[in-house]
Amino acid sequence: MSIDTRDSFTGKFGVIAAAAGSAVGLGNIWRFPYVVGENGGGAFLLVYILFILAIGIPVMMSELIIGRRAQKNVFGAFKALAPKHPYFIIVGIMGVGAAFMILAFYSVVAGWTLEYTYLAVSNNLLTKTSSELSVFFSEFSQSTTGPVIWMVVFMFLTGAIVIGGVQKGIERYTKILMPVLFIIIVILCIKSATLDGAGKGFSFLFKPDFSKVTGKVILEALGQAFFSLSIGMGVIATYGSYIQKKENLFTTAVSVSFADTLIAVLAGVAIFPAVFAFGIDPSSGPGLVFETLPNVFNHMAGGYFFSVAFFLLLVIAALTSSVSLLEVVVAYFAEELGMKRTVATVIATIAITLFGLLAVFSSEMFNFFDKTSSNILLPLGGILISVFVGWVLGKLQVKDELSAHGGKVRMIGLLMIILKIIAPLAIGLVFLNGIGII
Ligand code: PFF
Repeated sequence: MSIDTRDSFTGKFGVIAAAAGSAVGLGNIWRFPYVVGENGGGAFLLVYILFILAIGIPVMMSELIIGRRAQKNVFGAFKALAPKHPYFIIVGIMGVGAAFMILAFYSVVAGWTLEYTYLAVSNNLLTKTSSELSVFFSEFSQSTTGPVIWMVVFMFLTGAIVIGGVQKGIERYTKILMPVLFIIIVILCIKSATLDGAGKGFSFLFKPDFSKVTGKVILEALGQAFFSLSIGMGVIATYGSYIQKKENLFTTAVSVSFADTLIAVLAGVAIFPAVFAFGIDPSSGPGLVFETLPNVFNHMAGGYFFSVAFFLLLVIAALTSSVSLLEVVVAYFAEELGMKRTVATVIATIAITLFGLLAVFSSEMFNFFDKTSSNILLPLGGILISVFVGWVLGKLQVKDELSAHGGKVRMIGLLMIILKIIAPLAIGLVFLNGIGII
C-alpha cells in the first residue's frame, strides 16, 4: 500500500478482502481460543459478541469514515479533519506504540506457526502423541534459537511486502487464500465435532456459565474484540482512505466484522471439542492451538495435506495482518518524521524485530505486550476515535460520508448516540472495572 500514490482498491470485494486480511489472523485462530479457554468459555463468547456488535462495528465505521474523508493515513487524517484539535493525533501515536507491542509478540507466534509448517511438511507433526505434542510445544517455545530465527524470517517477509507495495498483493492473494483457509477450518470443525467426548467442548464453548463473568473477563472480551477487528489504532482508518467514495462503509464494517467473528467462532468449534477429547487443559494459554490441532490432523484422513495447508495458510493470514501493523509505524516515520518510505520500512522492521526478541526471551514480556496492547491501548484508542467522530466530526459530516454525499442513511441517530455516549462510557467503565479501580 503506497501512501504517496492514492490509488484505490478495485471494488467492493477488494476492500473487504484487504480489511478482512488485516482483521483475520492469529487473533482469530490462536488468540481467540486461548483467551476463551482462560476466561471460562460460553459466557465470555456471549460478552465478546455483544462487544463486536455494540462497540466493534461502530468503531470500525468511525475509522473508515476518518480515513476515507481525509484521504490520508491516521496521522494526516486528524490534522486534516480537525486542525483545531491537534491533540487527537495521540490516537496515531498510541497506535504506533500498540503496533510495536503487538508485532513484538505477533511475530513470535507467527514464527511458531512457521516452525509448525516446517514440522508438518517434514512429517514430524503427525508422528507425535498428544503428550509429546505438549512437551514439544513447551520445550520449543521456551528455547531461543528456533523461535528467534523464525521470528526474524517472519519480520523479514512482512518488511519485504510493505516495501513491495501491499495493495495489489493483498487483494490478489486474500481473495483466493482466505476462502481456502475458511474451508479447511470448516473441515476441521466437522472432524473435531465427531471425536469421542466432543460434547464437553461444545458445552464449554456455547453454554454460558455466568458465575465465571468478572470485571477482568469482561475487559478481556473487549480487548479481544478490538484486537481481532484490528480497531483502535488507525489501521482500519488507513484502509478506509483507499476505499472509493461509492462504497458503503456500513456494509464494509458489517461484512468484515461478520467474517472475522465467524472465523473466530469456527476456530473455537474446531479446537474445544478436541481439547476435551484429548484431555488438554482449556486454560493452558498461548500454546492451546499448537498443542490441540495436530491431534485432530493426526486422526483424520488426509491429515498430512490438511496440516501443511492449515499452517501455511495461517502464516499467510498472519502476514496480511502484520503488514497492516507495520504500515502504521512506517506511515508515522514517513509522514511525521519525514523519512523516505523504504528507509522508514527498513528501520521500523529492524527496530520491531529487536523489540520482538524481548518477547522470545521472556514470557513475562510476551504477556505484557499481549495484554497491554489489547486491553489498554486499543480500547483507549477506541474511546478517542468514537469521541472524535461523534463530537468533533458530528452528525452532518458522518451522514455526508456514509451516504456518499446525499442519499439516505439508516440508523444514523443510533450510531451517533453510540459514538458520542455509549461507546466511550462503556469502554471507560469496562476498562476501570477490569483493572480494579471501580
Ligand atoms: N486483527 C489481527 C488478528 O486478529 O490477527 C491482529 C491485528 C492486526 C491487531 C492489526 C491490530 C491491528 F491493528
